[in-house]
Amino acid sequence: MKRLAIVLIGGFFLLNWVMPAAASPTKRCDEVTKTCRIFTHASLWEGYNLFRNDCKKCHYQGSKKAKFLYTESKVRKGWNRVFDERYPACAKDGSWGKLTAEQIARVNDYLFKNAADTYDPYDATDCG
Ligand code: HEC
Repeated sequence: MKRLAIVLIGGFFLLNWVMPAAASPTKRCDEVTKTCRIFTHASLWEGYNLFRNDCKKCHYQGSKKAKFLYTESKVRKGWNRVFDERYPACAKDGSWGKLTAEQIARVNDYLFKNAADTYDPYDATDCG
């Protein structure tokens, strides 16, 4: 039964991401710019720092300004929707204004890469 569940979940990821493994992704294809971005340590590090220094100014744990957000607050599709549609209040009211389009894409890369349900301990890209 457990094995069946694993197979079903694996199939779900295969269908969703058309990738050979369910591991965390190595690239992200952007709906807005219609390009795929291959992650590097440098680009993910930049995204991490931008998220920490900018988004987290409001979205930290215990914040009264906005709800707490971290990479696993959303699955990959959810994060892409945030950036493709720019639906959050803060994207509309100018709170993202200081970031360039390139920097916003880096934040998207970082959150997408580390989104909920992406970590796979059986995949080499995820351990060490
Ligand atoms: C000046 C404060 C501020 C900054 C900076 C900010 N936000 Fe927000 N954000 C808000 C507020 C206020 C809301 C609406 C209330 C809520 O949902 O927390 C919001 C909502 C959101 C939501 C919707 C939350 C949900 O329910 O899913 C997301 C996603 C989000 N922000 C992401 C970001 C990202 C990514 C960044 C950095 C690029 C960022 N925010 C920077 C204040 C901020």
